[in-house]
Amino acid sequence: MESFRFSMPTQIIFGKDTERQTGAETAKIGKRVLFHYGSGSIRKSGLYDRVVESLKSAGVEYVELGGVQPNPRLSLVQEGIRLCREQKLDAVLAVGGGSVIDSAKAIAVGVPYTGDVWDFYTGKAVPSQIIPVGVVLTIPAAGSEASKSSVISREEGNFKLALDIDLIKPAFAIMNPELTYTLPPYQTACGAADIMAHIMERYFTNVKNVELTDRLCEATLKTVIRNVPIVLRDPANYDARAEIMWAGTVAHNDLLSTGRVGDWASHMLEHEISALYDVAHGAGLAVVFPAWMKYTYKHDVQRFVQFAVRVWGVEENFADPEETALEGIRRLEQFLSGIGLPVRMEELPVPTDRLEEMAERAVAKGSIGSFLPLAKSEAASIYKLAVKA
Ligand code: NZQ
Ligand code: ZN
Repeated sequence: MESFRFSMPTQIIFGKDTERQTGAETAKIGKRVLFHYGSGSIRKSGLYDRVVESLKSAGVEYVELGGVQPNPRLSLVQEGIRLCREQKLDAVLAVGGGSVIDSAKAIAVGVPYTGDVWDFYTGKAVPSQIIPVGVVLTIPAAGSEASKSSVISREEGNFKLALDIDLIKPAFAIMNPELTYTLPPYQTACGAADIMAHIMERYFTNVKNVELTDRLCEATLKTVIRNVPIVLRDPANYDARAEIMWAGTVAHNDLLSTGRVGDWASHMLEHEISALYDVAHGAGLAVVFPAWMKYTYKHDVQRFVQFAVRVWGVEENFADPEETALEGIRRLEQFLSGIGLPVRMEELPVPTDRLEEMAERAVAKGSIGSFLPLAKSEAASIYKLAVKA
């Protein structure tokens, strides 16, 4: 096991009706806040009204900025920064999914910074100050409610880049599984694929003797695998929604990274797909991850055997470990496909004539991944594996 530092500063407020506490929690981080949300799901569900009522009864003043799109855009972040400065707002309340939260985090680091907030995403500057961010989560997926990441898309040049720093972890996250009943099946499935990807990125590591986190990863994966089909059949199943929602946070708050080094190449490869073609991140991952596995499993067949046996219940073929490893990858693909996700590039659908360019962009800052570092040609091979069976 590697040495590590782990902190989990985000206060989690989990359970039925917890959104009623939004005002009281927000009052602890700001007096005048930016109320940031997406494209309308919170109005349809009635959550908007409950949040407003809660803010008012706690005496929190707010200025609204809705309209965050999936794959959140830099231009709206810049508008949010301008609003916060003009209106002297001292915190950001994100009500929505990963896109809203990531946009809120970007605004929050941008407000005290005199330069262009995009500098933090290109690595030109490192943020040292932030105004606090609070969250009401509506979709278990990105794990942004307790993660150190924010992923923003810049329209000009179709760039999608991440900022990763502990400073941007939200102060609190209100998580009521009932808020996820309104999710369309496709969004539920995309969220599940992202949660699973966050765990698998950490699972495929070269670090030895990481038994506890291996088993935590396996348990979290199995929880998602068992409960997603339940909510697809029965969207208002509280217990199953709750398991998935908590799994989404545990998958990405870095507990499962403790003592080990994750890979993250699949995320880098996916970000090029959603940057160019604006597809849902989870759907892109469902296509990329199995292809990445097929390309890399020979690097450590035994780890893939463990994944197949412990996560998918594959019977181990001791005479032919590769066969067991490949069966685990097949089961993953079958699961993703069974919950309604694409597992091939052409199902996304995205054109397949820019694979070399995508590979080049994915490795623009150098090789990606740590389990098996990938240069451009390997990245292109994985995209090609993702095109056909
Ligand atoms: O905009 P609204 O109307 O709210 O609709 C959203 C959106 O269309 C809808 N939705 C959310 N909650 C709902 C709902 N519809 C009905 N009922 C509800 N309760 O779902 C759609 C997707 O929302 P989005 O926020 O985009 O989803 P997600 O949480 O998957 O976030 C995706 C973004 O997060 C980034 C991704 O790259 C992508 O840009 N990621 C962020 C990470 C992080 N910050 O740690 C890590 C991830 O790896 C990921 O890269
Ligand atoms: Zn992700």
